[in-house]
Amino acid sequence: MNSPMQASSDPRDKFNRLYYASNVWMHTSWHGVPVAKTPTDLWIYQEIIHEHRPDWIVETGSWMGGSALYLAHQLDHFGGRVISVDIDVRERPKHPLITWLHADSGRQETAESVRAEVSGKVMVILDSDHTKPHVLKELEYLAPLVTPGQYLIVEDTNLNGVVPWTEPGPAEALASWLQDKPDRWEEDAGREKFLLTFNPGGYLKRRG
Ligand SMILES: C[S@@+](CC[C@H](N)C(=O)[O-])C[C@H]1O[C@@H](n2cnc3c(N)ncnc32)[C@H](O)[C@@H]1O
Repeated sequence: MNSPMQASSDPRDKFNRLYYASNVWMHTSWHGVPVAKTPTDLWIYQEIIHEHRPDWIVETGSWMGGSALYLAHQLDHFGGRVISVDIDVRERPKHPLITWLHADSGRQETAESVRAEVSGKVMVILDSDHTKPHVLKELEYLAPLVTPGQYLIVEDTNLNGVVPWTEPGPAEALASWLQDKPDRWEEDAGREKFLLTFNPGGYLKRRG
C-alpha cells in the first residue's frame, strides 16, 4: 500500500509523478477511443484476463468507453462479457460483448442489477467517482460480486500517495475497507512489476 509523502525522491515515484503530471493519460486511446489508463496497467489487465479468464468483468466509470472496449477486445479472444456502469449518458462504442448500464455505481440497487446480470467467474474494476465515501460504497456493494480467485481492481490509488490530491480518495477507502477483512483479499504487488501504475496496492485477488 502506498504511504503519503514517504518516497517522494524514489525514482519510481518521481517517474510516476512526472507521468501523471504530463496528462498524457488523458490523451491515450484504444482503437481511437480515449482511455484514461497507463499502457502498463492495460497490459496488466490483459495478463490478468488471460491468466484468470473471467466470465464477466464489471467496470464502474465508463467515461468515453475506451477501457470497456479494451476489455471487450481481450474477451474476444478469451471469452466473457463486460458490464460498464456510468452515471453519465453519452455515445459510446458498440461492441456485442459490452453492456452499458446507466446508473450510480454507489447504490445498492445498481449492484443488485449487476448481480442479476453476471454469472460464473467475476472480476470488478472500480474507476468512477474517486472520493473516499463513493469508493467505500462501491467496495461494500460491488466487491462481494468478485468470485474466489478473481480480481478486484481499485483504480487511482496513486492519489494522495505518489500524486497529491484534494481529499481522501480510493487508497484511503481501500485501507479502511480492508481493515476488518485482511484474510479475504490478497494484495498482488506483482501486478506493479512495470513500475508505472496508477493503482499501487489496488490489485487485489479474492482468496478462495
Ligand atoms: C475516471 S473516469 C473513468 C475512466 C475510464 N474507466 C477509462 O479508463 O477510460 C470516471 C467516470 O466515472 C463516472 N462517474 C462519476 N460518478 C459516478 C457515479 N456515482 N456512478 C457511476 N459513474 C460515475 C463519470 O461520469 C466518468 O465517466
